[in-house]
Amino acid sequence: MTPTPPPRVPNWVEAHAARHAQNAWDGLDLSALQGASSDTRPYLPMSLVALSYSPLWGQLRPEEQLRLNHLTGMASIELVGQFEATLVIPVVDALRKKENDPRVRACLERFIADERIHINAWTRMNQASDPTLYAENPHALMGAPGTMAQVTRRWATARPWHFPAMVWLMLANEERFHWMAHQVAQDPAVHPTWKQAYLLHLADELRHVEMDQHLLAPLWARQNPLLMKLNARLLTHLVRRHFCALQKGGVADHTACRLALEFPRLQPMLPQLRLALRTLHGQPDFRASLFSSQTIPTAIDWLGRMPGMQPLARELSEKVP
Ligand SMILES: [Fe+2]
Ligand SMILES: [Fe+2]
Repeated sequence: MTPTPPPRVPNWVEAHAARHAQNAWDGLDLSALQGASSDTRPYLPMSLVALSYSPLWGQLRPEEQLRLNHLTGMASIELVGQFEATLVIPVVDALRKKENDPRVRACLERFIADERIHINAWTRMNQASDPTLYAENPHALMGAPGTMAQVTRRWATARPWHFPAMVWLMLANEERFHWMAHQVAQDPAVHPTWKQAYLLHLADELRHVEMDQHLLAPLWARQNPLLMKLNARLLTHLVRRHFCALQKGGVADHTACRLALEFPRLQPMLPQLRLALRTLHGQPDFRASLFSSQTIPTAIDWLGRMPGMQPLARELSEKVP
């Protein structure tokens, strides 16, 4: 069924303002985190650790599996913070500057403020989770984005009216956060602090997903055919490269390398582990945990309604046999 576009002025503006007035994130208590070397609880469900889908998983000792879980949790929130800082905030800010309705503009200001709170919370979470690793560098596992990536992204995110693909990426990622938060919340083994952070994030991201759709609707409606084609190509490339496969330099790859650095007995196995990661997209359960109709049904629904995007929508909806 085709979803109805949200109204021009969202009816949740007041609720949004009221929530923002009392920042629930102030209540995030990091004191229960003992630091990854002592924490015996996972930071994420094991099903969110890519390597757990590989037959090689059984060859890792329990302490190595737990450390890979912690590394995956920390690397993932590094990436979430980067995504919020380099994509979400610039896109929302560019649209805020063009917005005429003061109520919507205020909503967009709060959206940006939310993301700043999240970025700060992620940095503090990682520092509390592994004080040694994050003593100096908040991008210790994933590294800061490269210059070329930064320039391209800065250029496209400053012009979201030409590149609504960027707004769709916001929607898809924020919708997938919902799915992840539910996975984290349902797993009794996950560390309570990490669970609390994911649930606090979920509360904000629920509103952001509504706002993303509100922003997306007029942008798609206004596109000329040439730009639409460009958007379709750009989005198909980005989604295939970054969100539907495990590429070199992604979270799984970086964390496997780090694990082998910390556990020298794994050094000889590292090439095998990295190779195994790149073949995982043929594994149905793993494939479903990336961008799929299980994790981002609303975003795929939007794609299906956008000119030129139906092939990508079909590709993402397909089940791996
Ligand atoms: Fe966020
Ligand atoms: Fe968000």
